[in-house]
Amino acid sequence: MDLKNRDIISINDFSKEELLHILKVVKQVESNPKNNLLKGKILAALFFEPSTRTRLSFISSMEQLSGTIIGFSTANVTSIQKGESLWDTIKMTGQYADVIVIRHPLEGSARLAAEAASIPVINGGDGSNQHPTQTMLDLYTIQKTKGRLENLHIGFVGDLKYGRTVHSLVIALANFNPTFYFIAPDDLQMPESYLDELFQKKVKYHKTSDLTRFSKELDVLYVTRIQKERFPDPLEYEKFKGIYRIDGAFLQHVKKDLKIMHPLPRIDEIDKSIDNTEHAAYFGQAANGIPVRKALLALVLGKIK
Ligand code: CP
Repeated sequence: MDLKNRDIISINDFSKEELLHILKVVKQVESNPKNNLLKGKILAALFFEPSTRTRLSFISSMEQLSGTIIGFSTANVTSIQKGESLWDTIKMTGQYADVIVIRHPLEGSARLAAEAASIPVINGGDGSNQHPTQTMLDLYTIQKTKGRLENLHIGFVGDLKYGRTVHSLVIALANFNPTFYFIAPDDLQMPESYLDELFQKKVKYHKTSDLTRFSKELDVLYVTRIQKERFPDPLEYEKFKGIYRIDGAFLQHVKKDLKIMHPLPRIDEIDKSIDNTEHAAYFGQAANGIPVRKALLALVLGKIK
């Protein structure tokens, strides 16, 4: 399977076979890192929104494979400040690098970047829309910690309305006969468009605002932050912040082998006391960003098939 020159914009653009192929390549890369694989290649890391994991793991992956990096972590230092359009910014950058990763607050910005650039573009998160490379590392984490992707019962809790990591992940997991449990207050529940898509694909799902209602069913619980920066009205955020908390008391209501994931950053939704339990998969999940992003860079740059 050849993913050379492919843009990675939406998880919807990838078939089940392609996702499984990517996971196979990630495993190969993790067990046999070839340190000169991207020598001579340049990554442009264009971050218009804050990031720790996505930005640093892309940079670290590129450096570990002997590639180089250009880019910025805030638009304040770019000519966007002088009024240059995103289209022109990307068109220029495409002439200085071999691959672009972009994070931007506007939904659809990564797709626009892919149209402007003649080199592969990777979406590092576009507003509340999608975060496909996070999804690939989430899939890899589930496969590693649960031993399979098929037939799992997976809960999602927190901000499901604006949570791009959740949006991407449910679409990817829909390929593997899951049962989903969407745990959120009505105002932060999964958008209807995603529920319609799951219905069309005959995916089983339940909606509730009660954290413990289905907790004994779960193989994986994917926890998300209530994202202050996504709320148009700050008072709405105040209403929901701190609404769910995964702590020792919650663990009384779960299977022994439940894995708890979180794309991070966390605020207070997972108590620190969980970190040293067998349930905590979130720091390993973040670490999986390295082999996953190494594999994706090598695939789109045509260095691995
Ligand atoms: N998971 C994730 O996207 O983290 P950052 O916002 O720190 O990149």
